[in-house]
Amino acid sequence: KKAEIIIDKYFLTGSVDKRIYGSFIEHLGRAVYGGIYQEGLASSDEQGFRKDTLELVKELEVPIVRYPGGNFVSGFHWEDSVGPKALRPARTDLAWRVIETNQFGLNEFADWSKKAGSEMMMAVNLGTRGPEDAKNLLEYCNFEGGTYYSDLRKSHGYAKPHDIKLWCLGNEMDGKWQMGHKTAGEYGRIASETARMMKWLDPEIETVACGSSSLTMPTFGDWEYQVLDECYDEVDYLSLHQYYGNRSDDTADFLACSKGMDDFISGVVSICDAVKAKKHGGKNINLSFDEWNVWYHSNEQDKEIKAWDQAPHQLEDVYNFEDALLVGSMLITMLRHADRVKVACLAQLVNVIAPIMTSDTGAWRQTIFYPYMHASVYGKGTVLMTQIKAPVYESRTYGTVSTLDCVCIWDEEAEAVTIFAVNKDLEDDAEVSCDFRQFEGYQVEEHIVLTHDDMKAVNTEAAPDTVSPIHSEASKLENGIFSTVFGRHSWNVVRLV
Ligand code: AHR
Repeated sequence: KKAEIIIDKYFLTGSVDKRIYGSFIEHLGRAVYGGIYQEGLASSDEQGFRKDTLELVKELEVPIVRYPGGNFVSGFHWEDSVGPKALRPARTDLAWRVIETNQFGLNEFADWSKKAGSEMMMAVNLGTRGPEDAKNLLEYCNFEGGTYYSDLRKSHGYAKPHDIKLWCLGNEMDGKWQMGHKTAGEYGRIASETARMMKWLDPEIETVACGSSSLTMPTFGDWEYQVLDECYDEVDYLSLHQYYGNRSDDTADFLACSKGMDDFISGVVSICDAVKAKKHGGKNINLSFDEWNVWYHSNEQDKEIKAWDQAPHQLEDVYNFEDALLVGSMLITMLRHADRVKVACLAQLVNVIAPIMTSDTGAWRQTIFYPYMHASVYGKGTVLMTQIKAPVYESRTYGTVSTLDCVCIWDEEAEAVTIFAVNKDLEDDAEVSCDFRQFEGYQVEEHIVLTHDDMKAVNTEAAPDTVSPIHSEASKLENGIFSTVFGRHSWNVVRLV
């Protein structure tokens, strides 16, 4: 089937904020213990950080990592996680009904982030705690010295501040499952007061208010409006969270979920702008899509987990090939909104609904690792408004959906254009063309493809490369016209330089 991509170098969506390729480490399951940190393992370094995991994280070029939750943060006492390890208390974590030993904490995460080449995105507890503790945590992290909490940090061996620039004001406060869950009015007030105090202490930080936990929350819309109505002046971003699953084994419908994500983003942008208009505001509230992924494979097995275990196998989704296609489409969707989506975190990074899995004997790449890595490594520059003419199909949940998801990114300085595309057609290849005459002198550098005959194929420790990228020779640029074939059900990266 034929399709066309239409771009114009004067029609730009916006520049890509590198933080759109962020990820997330929560104290949950084996994300921390056994994931990024495992003392005593031959492949761990002197701090107990797993070197095999670090290598894969570095391959992903993760610019920023959200920490320490998630639901966990709503009961977190950060003071438990710093200072001499022998003195740190073990605590019950009510979010996941496990024991948290605190052997890995805030300062270890700062060290690990440096080794990974990532910045930190820190969350404060607005569930069981409030502005005072958030302010103390910020003082511990960012204040130079000469005060109680900054000197406490120094006494723990960290002379220099961690200088964390981006702060989440709690997590999913609209959800009944959240410790200290609140109404929109209650949360908006506490978010506003917390951010105000934090910015008095460090005016350089940015803050993220909690939006709805998903588009399907009954309070969606009202929640966003009321929260922002309270804290518009004090916050910079509003969060979105969304997970998808193929529970009814309908691949076409599952792949259509990116349309749901697109509608979600457009809706939240509209609400942010409505509040801005009402307040005669001078700034845009941008979006932090700080939890997104596929999550459903592990739901049943997680029902078997016994309470008060330590770092159990939890939320360990084993991702298949079709999950990688949707993850690619979700990345494309967020990039198409790069003017407003400035931060996003693939939830999560290691073992827990993650692109990287570990065992005591190694670490490997799940299928979703690849589109995430390709986007993070190659998706730099300015998003070109990318029009697509392609066949459509009827999906059960999302109505009429394009078979082709695509975005083009222009790195003017490096003189490179990258095309990311997912052909969702389960039967037919797409023969695609694009008038490329404005980009004189460019040539096809490479065309990377992720595809597999079996939509349910997975990567395991024993067979880690079952689903892995290959190179295609299908892309050509002749007389200013780009032409290619995006094979049926495939993720494609075409680089023109
Ligand atoms: O990422 C897993 C969990 O999903 C997070 O803890 C929570 O914020 C969300 O519900």
